[in-house]
Amino acid sequence: MKFYLDSANLEELKRACSWGIIDGVTTNPSLIAKEGVPLEEHVLKICDLIQGDISAEVVSTSAKEMIEEGLKLSKLHSNIVVKIPLIEEGIKAASVLHKEGVRVNITLCFSAAQALLAAKTGAYIVSPFVGRIDDIGWPGMDLIRDIVQIYGNYGYKTQVLAASIRGPRQVIEAAKAGVHICTLTYKVLEQMFQHPLTQSGLEQFLSDHKKAFDLVSA
Ligand code: G3P
Repeated sequence: MKFYLDSANLEELKRACSWGIIDGVTTNPSLIAKEGVPLEEHVLKICDLIQGDISAEVVSTSAKEMIEEGLKLSKLHSNIVVKIPLIEEGIKAASVLHKEGVRVNITLCFSAAQALLAAKTGAYIVSPFVGRIDDIGWPGMDLIRDIVQIYGNYGYKTQVLAASIRGPRQVIEAAKAGVHICTLTYKVLEQMFQHPLTQSGLEQFLSDHKKAFDLVSA
């Protein structure tokens, strides 16, 4: 499974990058807006930090403008994957961009029917938002399992990227479902490190070491 960091914050990116386990980055207009820097300028800084797929989302909503914006974004850096919302105009734009050789991440996917449309465009990635489905009381992970099964039935090459992940439990469920990628906030990644038994076990090891050898060296 590939881990992408779901953030546009350069400090979070630097810290997560130091762990050596990050395979790419996803951004969206809300994450970019939080940084207060124009998309093209900021996404190039991210490309300098992380070797891997960097998703940058268009803000146009007509196919014609999404195609123009997508082509422009893809030319900024070879690692850029163009994020397109899963609307009718987005499907139209994604089909054209794919034929132009642009790697597309179709985002804001909330149903298996939508995911089928995404695969038909030849998209590089589809991003179903698990957490936001759970947030309204529906089973978000069922969608992930449905998409993985449907894509496997037809051998679609589109990668399933589990997005809107709310905690480590969902990462495990997504892994068991066989997704290609999970995009994770810095907070969720940090939570994945934590376990009380690891902490207490290490404290015991170090305490025993100190008792046994510090006395010898004293
Ligand atoms: O960036 C795409 C997705 O992961 C955002 O999800 O629900 O945390 O805003 P959310």
